[in-house]
Amino acid sequence: MGFLKLQNVTKIYNNRYVLKDINISVKKGEIYALIGPSGAGKSTLLRIIDLLEKPSSGEVEFEGVKTGLLNEEGIVKLRRKMVLLSQKVVLFNMSVFGNVAYGLNLRKINYKIVKEKVNEVLNRVKMLEYAEQNALLLSGGEAQRIALARSIVLEPELLLLDEPTANLDPTNVALIENIIRELNAKHKTTIIIATHNMLQAKRLGDKVGFILNGELVEEGPPGQLFNQPIDERTKAFIDGTMIY
Ligand SMILES: Nc1ncnc2c1ncn2[C@@H]1O[C@H](COP(=O)(O)OP(=O)(O)OP(=O)(O)O)[C@@H](O)[C@H]1O
Ligand SMILES: [Mg+2]
Repeated sequence: MGFLKLQNVTKIYNNRYVLKDINISVKKGEIYALIGPSGAGKSTLLRIIDLLEKPSSGEVEFEGVKTGLLNEEGIVKLRRKMVLLSQKVVLFNMSVFGNVAYGLNLRKINYKIVKEKVNEVLNRVKMLEYAEQNALLLSGGEAQRIALARSIVLEPELLLLDEPTANLDPTNVALIENIIRELNAKHKTTIIIATHNMLQAKRLGDKVGFILNGELVEEGPPGQLFNQPIDERTKAFIDGTMIY
């Protein structure tokens, strides 16, 4: 039984194929990096894996369960095991602490435990001293760290990260990458990360998949995909000679 398996996943928006016949397997504890140009379908794929959207055809299998066969209740239950950090960071108009505690409070977790967990992750993202500040006043980099804290405090089995370091300076990029690595190493969290940053995919990914026009062109360990790509299109994308 695999952890996550996409079989012939297709998505059509307004009669246009946004994803075509995607087949991907992700093992438990693996970090899978998705690269590809803007509009390729990376975010759409993450939303489908997060069971926020249904594929037009094909199947998403999670821990051996064919999710297409589940009712709403079954989907809600499965979705508790995963968290999607979306590309557009939206924080609530409340304290940093309140933002990070939000998901735990929804789960009706005891306040003492909430406080412990929130303080622990705020410390991990180096934002503990901002706990009482309104989240809407944070800088871009700080907001992204809080968005990550809000995701990891829920301790998901599957963490889906959509461009978690876009527009950040190198210090913040390194900080976030270290948290991702640590989470994966310590808790065996399975992570799928969509990124424009090829170096990031190389640094973090156990496996990298290249998506172009909704098609998974090629996948493999970063050493292979970046150094000896098989497909001409992968080569062109990596070399920066692709025109799109
Ligand atoms: N809800 C929607 N309705 C219609 N079209 C959509 C919808 N969501 C996404 N699309 C289209 O699907 C295509 C893929 O979008 P997606 O956001 O998945 O790309 P991406 O690879 O994440 O791009 P980027 O790197 O810019 O984030 C785009 O052409 C987009 O306009
Ligand atoms: Mg996207």
